[in-house]
Amino acid sequence: PPFYIVEETDVEEILRLKYRYLDLRREGMHNNIVMRARMNKYIRDFMTDRRFIEIETPILTAPTPEGARDYLVPSRVHAGRFYALPQSPQQMKQILMVAGFERYYQIARCFRDEDLRGNRQPEFTQLDIEISFAEEEDVLELMESLYTDMFKALRPDLRLVTPFPRLTYEEGMRRFGSDKPDLRFGMELVDFNEALRDTEFTVFRTVIASGGAVRGLCVPQGAAFSRKQVDDLTTFVQGIGAKGLVSMAFLGEGNVDSLTAEDIRSPVAKFFSVEQSQEMARLAGAGRGDMLLIVADGNEMAYNVLDALRRELGKRLDLIDENVRHFAFVTNFPLFEWNPEDERWYSVTHPFTQALPSEAGLLDTDVGAVHSRSYDLICNGWEIGGGSIRIHDRAMQEKIFDILGLTAEEAKRKFGHMLEAFEYGAPPHGGTAMGMERTAALLVGADDIRDV
Ligand code: AMO
Ligand code: AMP
Repeated sequence: PPFYIVEETDVEEILRLKYRYLDLRREGMHNNIVMRARMNKYIRDFMTDRRFIEIETPILTAPTPEGARDYLVPSRVHAGRFYALPQSPQQMKQILMVAGFERYYQIARCFRDEDLRGNRQPEFTQLDIEISFAEEEDVLELMESLYTDMFKALRPDLRLVTPFPRLTYEEGMRRFGSDKPDLRFGMELVDFNEALRDTEFTVFRTVIASGGAVRGLCVPQGAAFSRKQVDDLTTFVQGIGAKGLVSMAFLGEGNVDSLTAEDIRSPVAKFFSVEQSQEMARLAGAGRGDMLLIVADGNEMAYNVLDALRRELGKRLDLIDENVRHFAFVTNFPLFEWNPEDERWYSVTHPFTQALPSEAGLLDTDVGAVHSRSYDLICNGWEIGGGSIRIHDRAMQEKIFDILGLTAEEAKRKFGHMLEAFEYGAPPHGGTAMGMERTAALLVGADDIRDV
């Protein structure tokens, strides 16, 4: 055979995939596929107990936007015209709400023409759910119960953190630089803008003055890092796009209020007074023996770099417990994001998501400031699922299409069926969809969804 059928194998993945039938004979891979079947059975039983109805929706259909490109299938009957494969059953499940199926679910195949990654494939499966008369709490309770019960039943050896913590999108960004932070370890981000507004270090002062951010994190026991280790991390963040990385280590004994200039080790120490360094240590909760790592950049870049740095340090410092599944909810994403390339607004989730009622007034004045009634389920640094409370009102849906730059004509052509359905007594509704490959990967402990 091209490789031996044993558990430990370092054979190239490309060969494993070519001979997938041999790869699947390996006990671990075999068990992964069995686990996926047990997961499906668990979900069907759970959803049925909760009075949900499984409904299959069409595969050959009109486009449903979820932010990726569609796969198209030529129609024989209508020459020159195409079906789109669904990126998700989003529109169909909303129309099912109008049809009076108040609790719908489906284990649905979805298709998105996007690049392959460790947790992304062009063809994948969702547990898709929609509920009439639902508010956020109803959907979150359902997701949390399902995932808690299922993981306890199928992987009683794993540890969960319950109840699932909740953070808003803004909080996730501020504390971790990410909307899907790995919560298995700390090292939260620290904002130094206020403390360093008047610093003598020109790099920092200029960045702050131009609206950017000076942020960092505290590496516990980081003062013990060698010069080479710090240089490695600098190269790492430069690979992400950072311009540099400032380190500041606190040596000696006692608390940081008694720090002296000799106790502070940093390539830029001379630009900071001892008081400023103490203030930075206090902001970061750093003690002696710890080290601050700081970047100065545009807001978004600073978040990206520190998110990546935090995850990298989590691995290098061995802070990650592989037996923990740390689920959490991230809520209230911005409703729109501006794309400077084609100079228009895009939906952050999808265009059927409701604005927060308290901010809906801003739709006329400050579109970028509006947040949505949305929620993601995250776990160990992955997005597992997402959903929202939907628009069920024709005028509001038209307004969103208008902000997205669709003319009334285009909105009618692309989404007229939905707009019309909303005229016939559409109940308020909301729902969610969870990635089944990612869920199965978490159940078996795989890093890559190809393994499930
Ligand atoms: P969303 O686009 O967030 O939401 O998808 C839901 C979940 O599906 C999984 N997923 C994927 N898994 C593997 N490969 C992919 N290419 C891929 N794309 C998505 C993720 C993701 O969290 N209709 C909405 C849901 C709703 O609003 O109810 C939707 O599709 O785990
Ligand atoms: P320089 O003035 O380029 O010699 O940089 C002095 C120190 O500041 C070096 O340690 C750089 O890595 C660091 N540095 C430069 N630019 C930035 C930045 N934008 N963010 C964080 N550190 C930086």
